[in-house]
Amino acid sequence: MNDQKPVLAILGGTGKEGPGLALRWAHAGYPLIIGSRQAEKAQATAAEINAQLGIDTVRGMENSEAARLADLAVLTVVQSAQLEALQSVREVLQGKILVDATARVDFRDPRPPAPPAAARLAQDVLGPGVRVVAAFQNVPAHALKKDLGGTIPTDVLVCSDDVGAAQQVIELAKAVGMRAYYAGGLDNAVVVEGLTALLISINKHYGAKTASIGISGI
Ligand SMILES: NC(=O)c1ccc[n+]([C@@H]2O[C@H](COP(=O)([O-])OP(=O)(O)OC[C@H]3O[C@@H](n4cnc5c(N)ncnc54)[C@H](OP(=O)(O)O)[C@@H]3O)[C@@H](O)[C@H]2O)c1
Repeated sequence: MNDQKPVLAILGGTGKEGPGLALRWAHAGYPLIIGSRQAEKAQATAAEINAQLGIDTVRGMENSEAARLADLAVLTVVQSAQLEALQSVREVLQGKILVDATARVDFRDPRPPAPPAAARLAQDVLGPGVRVVAAFQNVPAHALKKDLGGTIPTDVLVCSDDVGAAQQVIELAKAVGMRAYYAGGLDNAVVVEGLTALLISINKHYGAKTASIGISGI
């Protein structure tokens, strides 16, 4: 990436995780587009973010249009819709980076998912023309919406078969107050998804909402 900030699209950016990430990147000055299956719904979320930040630059549009206009797209659709959503933007993502935040863990019965990783499945759907990076699967939506200019006490594990693409996503995480580390290829991302099962279990046991992971020793 050059000095100019990349245009980011958050696909399925109308739920819980997507608006949290969007809020922080828009606050940090990134050009941002909220994507949805319905343009009106995306526009409503964009308007809420603009109102909260006192800006008017966040746009909302249908997912494929958002992905088409973006330099880099982040997928935050509900886990059961991951592959269907990716198929709908496959063509317009060619040549770009797709960040997949999918963690296939049921909140009511948290267990680690079986391989292959969701991000590996995403890479298979999108083909070699898209550089898939798995990230943010362990970052709680609740933590993203607090202290926008400050740090978040969570570390982001970033997996990709393309180390250069992973590094770009590490910079994006750092730009909004998170520490981030390259954690190996896409197949490793199934372990990161599985950590979400542990974090949900910890949250339930201790009555918390933002249990997070931290890496030490580096
Ligand atoms: N919540 C968290 O704290 C958290 C933390 C880390 C990672 N994640 C991951 O982030 C992703 C989103 O989580 P979330 O809690 O934000 O989910 P969510 O609020 O339940 O849903 C996110 C969005 O998914 C879209 N969607 C629903 N059904 C769809 C379909 N059939 N096709 C395409 N899009 C569909 C909807 O957008 P439209 O109706 O506007 O299209 C919805 O606003 C999941 O993969 C989750 O594992 C969540």
